[in-house]
Amino acid sequence: MKKLIGAMLACLVAGTLMAATPDITNSTGGIKSERGATDLVTEASAAPLKNFRKDGEPYDRQYMHQPPLIPHDIRNYEVDNKVNKCLACHSFKNASKMKAPKISPTHFETRDGLTLGEVSPRRYFCLQCHVPQADAKPLVENTFKPVEALH
Ligand code: HEC
Ligand code: HEC
Repeated sequence: MKKLIGAMLACLVAGTLMAATPDITNSTGGIKSERGATDLVTEASAAPLKNFRKDGEPYDRQYMHQPPLIPHDIRNYEVDNKVNKCLACHSFKNASKMKAPKISPTHFETRDGLTLGEVSPRRYFCLQCHVPQADAKPLVENTFKPVEALH
């Protein structure tokens, strides 16, 4: 009987401990992220599509070696291992016909300084570095000042 009571007590203690541990697979732990405070197992509703700027003048550079910002909408421009819509306008071959600026020679260089005959894999996924612009509130305060010599 003593043994049984002991075992029951042990179960009770274990049960209480388990209840006190938050279930991290099913909760954000009160943390709000880009997907809001939606539990991890719940599918968050998609963020509304941003209104990106349509075609316009190129943006001034803010600092040396900045990847230029994209001054046009890029919705439905596919980039994957088979197609690269960006290169349909920006490759050396197509740029003048499409009246678009060419990618620069740096885009043909590998990280070891070899110049290839086609876009280097590290420059293939354009949106890793180039981003379109929407009229949106800054996510965090930013005190960055553009380099004066570039304006
Ligand atoms: C239909 C042709 C076309 C396609 C496709 C296209 N662009 Fe452009 N892009 C242009 C033109 C034309 C400009 C020059 C500015 C303007 O008229 O909007 C430009 C400007 C740019 C610039 C600014 C260059 C600078 O010197 O300031 C960047 C960066 C850029 N595009 C990146 C991209 C990326 C990345 C993609 C793919 C997601 C893409 N573009 C797809 C035509 C295109
Ligand atoms: C790893 C970052 C990176 C990736 C990926 C990348 N770029 Fe760039 N891009 C830059 C930087 C940095 C510059 C400015 C300095 C330079 O020319 O290297 C630039 C410059 C440009 C310019 C302006 C060229 C000029 O002469 O002023 C165009 C257009 C452009 N990129 C288009 C593209 C396209 C299209 C792709 C995809 C095929 C792409 N970039 C991929 C970083 C990148």
